[in-house]
Amino acid sequence: MTDHNSAVLTLNNGRPMPIVGLGTYAPKNNEDEVIDAVKAAVRAGYRHIDCAAIYRNERAVGHAIKQLIVEDVVKREDLFITSKLWNTCHRPDLVEDNLKKSLEDLGLQYLDLYLMHWPMAYKEGGEFLPRDENGKVLFSDVDYLDTWKALEDCVDQGLTLSIGCSNFNSKQLQRILDNSRIKPSNNQVEINIQNNNKKLVEYCKANDIAVTAFAPLGSPGNTSNSTPLLEDPVLKDIASKKNKTPAQVALRFLIQQGIGVLPKSVNAKRIPENFEIFDFSLSDSDKQQLFSLNKGIRGYSEEIALDHKYYPFHEEF
Ligand code: A2P
Repeated sequence: MTDHNSAVLTLNNGRPMPIVGLGTYAPKNNEDEVIDAVKAAVRAGYRHIDCAAIYRNERAVGHAIKQLIVEDVVKREDLFITSKLWNTCHRPDLVEDNLKKSLEDLGLQYLDLYLMHWPMAYKEGGEFLPRDENGKVLFSDVDYLDTWKALEDCVDQGLTLSIGCSNFNSKQLQRILDNSRIKPSNNQVEINIQNNNKKLVEYCKANDIAVTAFAPLGSPGNTSNSTPLLEDPVLKDIASKKNKTPAQVALRFLIQQGIGVLPKSVNAKRIPENFEIFDFSLSDSDKQQLFSLNKGIRGYSEEIALDHKYYPFHEEF
């Protein structure tokens, strides 16, 4: 049984976004590993690749995409490529050039989706993380609404087909909804069974903003969590009953709620594994058990910006 109907999410501008994408944030991996991962993913059926300027590997992703197109494995128009504007580039006059830099690195004429990576702006120019002499990150007071208007202009110019947000809370999204020509089509946030972000997901659904989950596997090896997500006995038990892996159940739980997933992997076995989630389904009782595993644990809280006026996580959702 292939669940084709839910293999794409339809954005609020009518454009389809494949529900499973490859996450490419891989700070420990070299360029060759990223190139191989993107190639393996597309060969396994992925059509959605999630990138960002801050991942510092868009050239490697672009290299892989170019080879896949040249080898006739896929056509550009069948791919869905996302990139993200980094916090040091929020000043409206910097937005277009930064989008174009990502396009150049990725070797593309247009993006499918361009996200504002965070609502907070950092001091413009130079380093991705500009710091003062005490090591404190330097902020900028650019309002994300002004950045948003520059993103709208990028859509008008055909540089990206859709625009959206990442790590925004509901109040920040509402402020954009109330003051924009083009509505955010997506909010990409950290979501997994231990941090299910239920209220934010409900808010986004009610406002026709598609939600995608980064760190959908809880970023194993990257948390100080006492029970790593994939080791959870309830998850493992459901997985063994379904003859699936814990990772597949963790991803299925999200796509069954209509949430897009962006699992990261550079492993030739795990890349296809994370895509093979359309041939089974979770019952209401499975889902209830998985909802009960929520601990509200955030792995990516950008605490260096806790006292920024637009820090998103002081709000409940
Ligand atoms: P690897 O690249 O060696 O596969 P997340 O997307 O939640 O941030 O998780 C990413 C991490 O999870 C990566 O370290 C990745 O390692 C690992 N990972 C990806 N897929 C699986 C899987 N199916 N089972 C176990 N670990 C996985």
